[in-house]
Amino acid sequence: MVERNPFSPTFGASPPVLAGRDEILEDVDDALETGPTHPDYTTLFIGVRGAGKTVMLNAVEDLARQRGWLAISDNASPTGFVGRLTTSVAHLLEEHGTPEKDPRFKGVTAAGFGVEFELDPSTDTAQSFRALLTELGRVLDQRGTGLIITLDEFQSGDLDEIRQFGAVLQHVTRREQLPVAFAGAALAQIEETLLSDDVATFLQRCSRYDIDRLDPQATEFAIAGPIQQRGGTIDEQALTTAVEATSGYAFMVQLVGFYSWKAAPDPTAVVTADDVAVGIAEAERRIGRLVLAPTWRSLSDVDRRFLIAMARDDGPSRITTVAERLEVDNGYAGVYRHRLIKAGMIIAAGKGRIDFAQHSTRQWLRNEAAYLAANFPDD
Ligand SMILES: Nc1ncnc2c1ncn2[C@@H]1O[C@H](COP(=O)(O)OP(=O)(O)O)[C@@H](O)[C@H]1O
Ligand SMILES: [Mg+2]
Repeated sequence: MVERNPFSPTFGASPPVLAGRDEILEDVDDALETGPTHPDYTTLFIGVRGAGKTVMLNAVEDLARQRGWLAISDNASPTGFVGRLTTSVAHLLEEHGTPEKDPRFKGVTAAGFGVEFELDPSTDTAQSFRALLTELGRVLDQRGTGLIITLDEFQSGDLDEIRQFGAVLQHVTRREQLPVAFAGAALAQIEETLLSDDVATFLQRCSRYDIDRLDPQATEFAIAGPIQQRGGTIDEQALTTAVEATSGYAFMVQLVGFYSWKAAPDPTAVVTADDVAVGIAEAERRIGRLVLAPTWRSLSDVDRRFLIAMARDDGPSRITTVAERLEVDNGYAGVYRHRLIKAGMIIAAGKGRIDFAQHSTRQWLRNEAAYLAANFPDD
């Protein structure tokens, strides 16, 4: 009988084993327990594409629901998320609140519900959001429970909307100390936006967690755990090879696991070194299209030339060598080094060297870069 493949190489799909994030989740859970005074009550998860930010939002939402909390999840793009959140809060109030008993609430109720709300152009969305969220916060506070709001892809949100959202949360959670917790996810670029924007105080005060690469032990657990849960084993040497092939990069962990499982004649008995070799080859073919290509498209022309120059080396590159190849000075190369580290494409490798963050990038670039540079020169 064929067992369903337990691995989940899909964006936003929670993995069979969420490895290496226990400490972060314990902190957040502790914050939900403690209340709005806890520094992790409002939190941002920062990391590169495929690092595991969205599944952390899912996990935080699960923690909140296990506590009997309500949860609202949305995405900062497309624009209009404050309006969407307002509608969600209104629905939750309708379901869980007792607004008719609260005289403060009357004014909002008329405009706050259903189609009327969504069509009424005179309603200031941020004001409605604040009033409804405050009301819901009070109702939940009285019941000793709370609401978690999770927002994904924060870096692509409209800045005005982010400000509105931040100001409301600042008021409800910080000033009023109501039980409305927040977790957001963003690419590292958000740091620049926020640092350069003095109005986004709320987000600057959120605690930050880097959703980094998994360490080798966590990676082992992420690959071997799901196999063992189905009664199988994986050869020790095969596991080591698999772990190395992923560089601890969460998306790659799922790809290698998935295609190694698929290659094994009976993965519920044993996954061998041969199976893993087949799995890694397939994972490397796929990672390029799934993750590297979209990231590549978001890079500037100079970023790309920098990476192509690096790909000529078989191992870590000296920054001075890359600068020579690009015919630029070291300071200029340093700026791009910094940008690409932030984009999650490369890592510092010590002694003036840099390397690809995900090592299959090198081969992918050798195969694809010329083609991509020719076909997507400007996007
Ligand atoms: N801690 C983890 N352990 C194992 N696999 C993970 C972990 N976090 C994420 N993944 C897997 O990595 C992939 C990318 O996760 P996702 O949350 O969509 O990334 P992001 O939102 O950062 O782009 C998914 O296939 C997911 O199952
Ligand atoms: Mg995501």
